[in-house]
Amino acid sequence: MKPKILVTREVFDETLARLSEHFEVESNQGDTPFTADELVARLADKQYVLSSSSDRFDAALLDRCPNLKAVCNIAVGYNNIDLPACTARGVMATNTPGVLTETTADFAWALLLAAARRLPDADTWLRAGNWKRVRLKDFLGIDVHHATLGIVGMGRIGQAVARRARGFDMRVLYTNRNRLPSDIERECNATYVSRTELLQNADFVSLHLPYSPENHHVIGAQQLAQMKRGAVLINVARGGVVDDAALVAALQSGHLAAAGLDVFENEPRLNPGFLGLRNVVLAPHIGSSSSATRLNMTLLATRNAVAALTGTPPNLLNPDVLKQQKGA
Ligand code: 8YV
Repeated sequence: MKPKILVTREVFDETLARLSEHFEVESNQGDTPFTADELVARLADKQYVLSSSSDRFDAALLDRCPNLKAVCNIAVGYNNIDLPACTARGVMATNTPGVLTETTADFAWALLLAAARRLPDADTWLRAGNWKRVRLKDFLGIDVHHATLGIVGMGRIGQAVARRARGFDMRVLYTNRNRLPSDIERECNATYVSRTELLQNADFVSLHLPYSPENHHVIGAQQLAQMKRGAVLINVARGGVVDDAALVAALQSGHLAAAGLDVFENEPRLNPGFLGLRNVVLAPHIGSSSSATRLNMTLLATRNAVAALTGTPPNLLNPDVLKQQKGA
């Protein structure tokens, strides 16, 4: 009798085939997100779950899923999982780091360039039949080359974004919980500064912080006001890191020239103030969404689940759980 696993959202056929080698699989290829009650009902007889970053595993839900042994997120972010609650209940939690770094960094640059050069606005305007002649002052944008890029959060993705800045001859500033080793600073051609100095000097600010209570609204009205007039904000990290209402105001006032956003507070119900703005590029949380990367994320989550069957998953987020399990 194989152990049972729930896959909470649609994945690839290859993922399901790989899982079926080790588990009795219940999938959700219809991809309708489960409510908490539906999740509990479906996990009643399951020991493992492959989850998306929108599935919440908090203490209340974990208490209702007594058979659960591992939550394997198909995401590098894991703010949807209460790690201490998992550890206290002997539940392993894993994520998918590394596999999506370069793809997400590419997308941060896609948003940066599209926002700087007003690409979606120009595309919409042209498709609407407005283009009658070439004009000198059409869609004047902001130069990216030789500008200053500020990176808030220099983990894997922040560093990958910094490395790409060399191609644009940019000055790179960064702020981080801890200063990086000098060899990594050299590799990223990045200078460590305070967050305030970064906000005051960067032409482009790109956010690469995990969401946590400490990082809630880390970019709020005060921080937006510290940014240079005419600066551009990029967020491919997590909704909630930015006070979206304050960002809408900064974009409406023209204090910020533009923003490129892939994540939002309360997504997918984003602040309606964004929808009427022509100086914001909006994307539906697709930063890691290349075909290869999304498949590889599901396969890494699968490797984590398979490893959890007999020992320690490669991307275990709460190693203390192993002591908890030994003591059980
Ligand atoms: C996920 C992400 O694809 O990895 C993360 O943390 O936000 C994205 O790469 C998204 O959460 C869907 O699961």
